[in-house]
Amino acid sequence: MLVDYRKLRAGNLMGDLKNDFTRKPFVPFAPAPRLKPLGNIGQMFVLAPNPIETWTQAHFDLPLISGPSLVGEVIVVNQPEAIRHVLVDNAANYQKDPLQRRVLAAGSSEGSGLGLLSAEGDLWKRTRRTLAPSFTPRRVAGFAPVMRERAEARVDRWLKRRSGAILEIDREMTGVTYDILSANLFSDALAEDAPGFERELAALLDSIGRVHPFDILNAPKWLPRFGRRKARQSRLWFEGAISRLIEYRLTLMSEHPDAVPDDLLTALMKASDPETGTGLTQAEVSANLFTFIAAGHETTARALGWTLYLLARTPDWWERCAEEACNAPGDPAHWLEAMPAMRAAFEESMRLFPPVPMMSRIAGADDMLGNIPVAKGTIAIIAPWLIHRHTLLWDSPGAFLPERFLPGAREKIDRFAYLPFGAGPRVCIGAVFAQMEAMIVLTSVLRRVRLTHLDGEPRPVHRITLRPEGRLAMKMEIR
Ligand code: HEM
Repeated sequence: MLVDYRKLRAGNLMGDLKNDFTRKPFVPFAPAPRLKPLGNIGQMFVLAPNPIETWTQAHFDLPLISGPSLVGEVIVVNQPEAIRHVLVDNAANYQKDPLQRRVLAAGSSEGSGLGLLSAEGDLWKRTRRTLAPSFTPRRVAGFAPVMRERAEARVDRWLKRRSGAILEIDREMTGVTYDILSANLFSDALAEDAPGFERELAALLDSIGRVHPFDILNAPKWLPRFGRRKARQSRLWFEGAISRLIEYRLTLMSEHPDAVPDDLLTALMKASDPETGTGLTQAEVSANLFTFIAAGHETTARALGWTLYLLARTPDWWERCAEEACNAPGDPAHWLEAMPAMRAAFEESMRLFPPVPMMSRIAGADDMLGNIPVAKGTIAIIAPWLIHRHTLLWDSPGAFLPERFLPGAREKIDRFAYLPFGAGPRVCIGAVFAQMEAMIVLTSVLRRVRLTHLDGEPRPVHRITLRPEGRLAMKMEIR
């Protein structure tokens, strides 16, 4: 039985909350949905620069849409019950699809498929079991003091400049999430490579994030993809840096075991599968280290950038969150529970601008979604960009209304109508890490400065993650 959409919508939404806001809500810019679907050629040209611009109004209005496309038969799944079916109840039938894997593997050597994000089958199961203990809430709480130290150090650097200074907030958030990951993942062992690291990661994500027409057409690998040479160079740069890091850590472990830092890299190298007792191979450690860097750093940075932009555009919410930040309790590991307004603003930001705007799977066998038959080989698209702005699921879907996520309202949101971290067995392993980090960075910023957004409204661009086009410039006032 499928959910009654209208009932769900009423429960989710603003009916109970109408009194909580009297102002006109802020509606950030988003590309207007197309009135008619693009043809095959049009799709190729729009998919490459910005896939979110291919969606039509029907994709924001209908629960399920299926039909042929450039990549074969596709079904776009917006209905919570059907999403649950694909990601949880019948997850074994829906592996990650080849197009997504081709895009993620751009410029890669053979080892990149070993990382948790793109692994499948037994390798994925074994890796997930092995890595899960490193990401439990208790283990992640241990990272909170270092997260706080790095976030405050970043704001200290800003304060050396005068009130009125202009900050490129997106770059700043990339910098602070790198600092935090570098400290917790490998104890800053790549410190001298930091500028190269940021440069190469930005280049890599920019080029692999573009869906290349040859990938859509599944053209042979030897056909050169324009713009992918840079991705390959960046991958090689990372592979070099990561293998130096692992070699150095192995030497330390054998020669000076007492000096080995208690970070995620050590955990990765020592981890063993609780079922079989086997550890990760060196190639697997390397692939997962790269996965954490790529998956864990850019996503959180973009979520923080969008949140600061939306708060800067809604001064009442900025003040409400700043007040919470100033009264935050001592232990940063508890800030997520201690700051309902800040958490609501962060969650609402990831609703409007989900850092991962699209996930996809391929049906391994014939299936049914709602009353639509799904043939083996069909690609199921689960796009938070659509689901989070769906007219059947949300009132005023384009408006920034953190009220939706305050305690009392939050519980009414269907688990499968809000998916910034995905769901089911392949749910983001770093979700606790990312949320704790976000609260700590936002608190450190809001306690000490006030930001005003400059320039026009940013245009969201989908490049694996959802980023603002151009810079996110803001004027800083010291509080
Ligand atoms: C706001 C920040 C983040 C967001 C929005 C996010 C989002 C997601 C989503 C949607 C997925 C599922 C993809 C799918 O099902 O196809 C995912 C998977 C994953 N994420 Fe995150 N992520 C974030 C931060 C992190 C962090 C901090 C780490 C690691 C330190 C991380 C590591 C991973 C890994 C390894 C996977 C693959 C899990 C698996 O397949 O078993 N992510 N993430």
